[in-house]
Amino acid sequence: MAKTKTKSARRAVRKASRKPGTNHRPRKTARPRAATRARTARPAAPELSPAPPMPEIDQYLTEHAGQFEETLCELLRIPSISADSAYRDDVRRAALWVADRFRGMNLTTEICETTGHPIVYAESPDVPGAPRVLVYGHYDVQPPDPLNEWISPPFEPTRRDGNLYARGATDDKGQMLTHVLGAQTWLATAGKLPLKLKFLIEGEEEVASDNLEKFIAANHERLACDVAVISDTSQYGADQPAITYGLRGIAYFELRLTGPKQDLHSGIFGGAVTNPANALAKMLAALINDKGRIQVPGFYDDVLPLTAAERKQFAALKASDRQFMESLGLTGLSGEVGYTTTERRWARPTFDINGLWSGYQGEGSKTVLPAKAGAKFSLRLVPHQKPDKIAASLEKMLKSLCPPGIKMELIRYGSAPGVVVPLESPHVAAAARAIEQAFGKRPVYIREGGSIPVVGTLKRHLGVDTLLLGWGRNDDNLHSPNEKFSLADFHRGIKASAYLWRELGRKE
Ligand code: BES
Ligand code: MN
Ligand code: MN
Repeated sequence: MAKTKTKSARRAVRKASRKPGTNHRPRKTARPRAATRARTARPAAPELSPAPPMPEIDQYLTEHAGQFEETLCELLRIPSISADSAYRDDVRRAALWVADRFRGMNLTTEICETTGHPIVYAESPDVPGAPRVLVYGHYDVQPPDPLNEWISPPFEPTRRDGNLYARGATDDKGQMLTHVLGAQTWLATAGKLPLKLKFLIEGEEEVASDNLEKFIAANHERLACDVAVISDTSQYGADQPAITYGLRGIAYFELRLTGPKQDLHSGIFGGAVTNPANALAKMLAALINDKGRIQVPGFYDDVLPLTAAERKQFAALKASDRQFMESLGLTGLSGEVGYTTTERRWARPTFDINGLWSGYQGEGSKTVLPAKAGAKFSLRLVPHQKPDKIAASLEKMLKSLCPPGIKMELIRYGSAPGVVVPLESPHVAAAARAIEQAFGKRPVYIREGGSIPVVGTLKRHLGVDTLLLGWGRNDDNLHSPNEKFSLADFHRGIKASAYLWRELGRKE
């Protein structure tokens, strides 16, 4: 869980992590200050002329395309499901596999044990005068169920229609590997990288990165860098790459209600004994009203509101509700009144039940008054909502709603704050050029609704901002059956990565 540091501690850390000389700061460009500065969806950094293509790099990419795909398939065959303890050894196997790749590239590599799954850390040699870039990714994946909805098995990567299907294909094994292979391409062609790379690849992102903060806190110096790069988000649409400047946060809970000592006949006891399933339904329903507003006291206190300018920029992206509904097999939409679909998905908080159980689930009917009921649910948060404050208020509210005869237990899982990152930086401009060179199109600047806990952690502990460069697509079925990654996006991602290493080091 995120521990908040004092302002002076944060300042000290930032200072310590900035070595003069190795610091890559814009000349006259204003330094991005508060998170609220990030609200303009256009970078204000000085424009550099496009750099020429790199024929040697391009040739290596073309010649090794097949090999890159095989490499990804190898990693995808390892069922590194972090949430399920039955897969503990496979999760470790994935970490070892990643570490082996780094060792094969002659990077200084370490497998760092945690009380959970291991973190793989690797770095290339110092390059004086060039920036230090921290590349974060995760080698763990979500559980693949429901299994019978997969067309090909989740851990047998399969090519269909230009896509590679497997759990983790886009989230995040495929995207993470684009940077490993982008670096490999430099090493194989130029013999060295044009900047210093520090790879931080963890195995607990899908379970809220619980052990990562401790590692980052204990390794400030080793991880010190000028900017972080993460590819674990999505493009805006097919053939429309994007740079993401905002993510939602999350607070995840499990509510367990217990009533009578065992299941009862609902005719004999119903009406006099509180039914835990009824109680659960009522308590959960009370958390959100008909206008889509969350009812936890103080919930909206710290919400960073959308500005008129940002709402205009979202609208200019011309999202279509009809297409959105069609792509999901829906006949209608609902959400917080007064906000568009894009605003609801990217920049407004939500409440979602993620799992629900109680009573009889078998064939036919059974008149039972269940002894227990439970739910897993989460609140997506936006900057600058505070997960701890919200969790405390939620618990108080649920206790007050819990009816007589019911014992309640609220379990809290990991959380992450929402983030916005500044766009007014030469790093963003460099990323935009690299993306244009690889995708043939300039990126648009978007926010997204998913969460990546490390982004806030890196800002708090190291004072660095993150470039969120997503090669995925919204229809890649992340966390769903038939997850895929477009092979074209995989290769464009590798090229963008290889070009990014040059662009980030460019002085003019
Ligand atoms: N890669 C996703 C987050 C994501 C996906 C962001 C698409 C933007 C666009 C990440 O692996 C993820 O699923 N995160 C979890 C975090 C949670 C487990 C703390 C999420 O968002 O549910
Ligand atoms: Mn991910
Ligand atoms: Mn995920």
